[in-house]
Amino acid sequence: MSRPVVGLVGLVVALVVGSLVPGSARLLAQSSAESSVVEQEGDRVRTYPTDTQEVKIGFRIAPVRLTFNAADRELVGLGSYLVNATGGCNDCHTNPNYAPGRNPFMGQPERINRDNYLAGGATFGPFTSRNITPDAEGKPAGLDWVEFHHVMTTGIDLKALHPAISPFLQVMPWPVYGKMKTRDLRAIYTYLKAIPSASPATTMATEP
Ligand code: HEC
Repeated sequence: MSRPVVGLVGLVVALVVGSLVPGSARLLAQSSAESSVVEQEGDRVRTYPTDTQEVKIGFRIAPVRLTFNAADRELVGLGSYLVNATGGCNDCHTNPNYAPGRNPFMGQPERINRDNYLAGGATFGPFTSRNITPDAEGKPAGLDWVEFHHVMTTGIDLKALHPAISPFLQVMPWPVYGKMKTRDLRAIYTYLKAIPSASPATTMATEP
C-alpha cells in the first residue's frame, strides 16, 4: 500500500471512529453532568398544572390495570395519554398489538393485547423492540428515571445490544420523543412504572 493510500485509510478510520465512539462518550458524560438537573426537575413536575382532560382521557384509555401512589395520579394519567393516544408505543412494543379477534384494522372491536402490553418482542429486520414494562425492581426496561431520560433524549442504547451496527437505538423514534418537555417524559416514565410487568409472547404473532 502506498503512503497516500494508508493516509487516506487512516483518515477514514479516524472519521468513522471519531463519529461513533467519542460521540457516545461525550453524550454519556453530558448525561452525568445533566443528571442532577434531570433528577430535580423530575421531582418538581408534580406541582406543575396539568391539563385535566388529558389526564381523564389517559385513565379512560389505559388498557391495563394501573398501580401507583396517589401523589403520582396526574403524571400517570398524562403518561397514559402520551403513550396510548399520541406516542404510539403500543404499535412497536406490544406483539401482537391486539387481542385475537379484536384488531381494529380488520374492522373488529378494538382490544389491545393486555397480556403482552409493552413487553416488546416485535422484530424490525435485525432489531427487536424491548420490554419496557417494570422489571423486578419496578423499573421500566430496567432503567431508572435519569437513564430513561437519557435514552429517550439521546437514543444511546445503554444496553449496547448491537455495538457492531450502532451505539444508537434503531427504529425507535427517540429523535421525536426526545423533543418532549421533561415533564412529559417524566409522565411517560411514571405511567410505565404503573403498568403490570409482562413478558413478550412466546408464540409468533399471527394475524387473524
Ligand atoms: C416505530 C417503532 C417504535 C415505537 C413507536 C416506539 N419504540 Fe421504543 N423501541 C423500538 C425498538 C425497535 C427498540 C430497540 C431498538 C434497538 O435495539 O436498536 C426500542 C427501544 C426502546 C427503549 C430502550 C429500552 C432499553 O432496554 O434500554 C425504550 C425506553 C423505549 N423504546 C421506549 C419507548 C416509548 C416510551 C415509546 C412510546 C412513547 C416507544 N418506545 C415507541 C421501537 C419503537
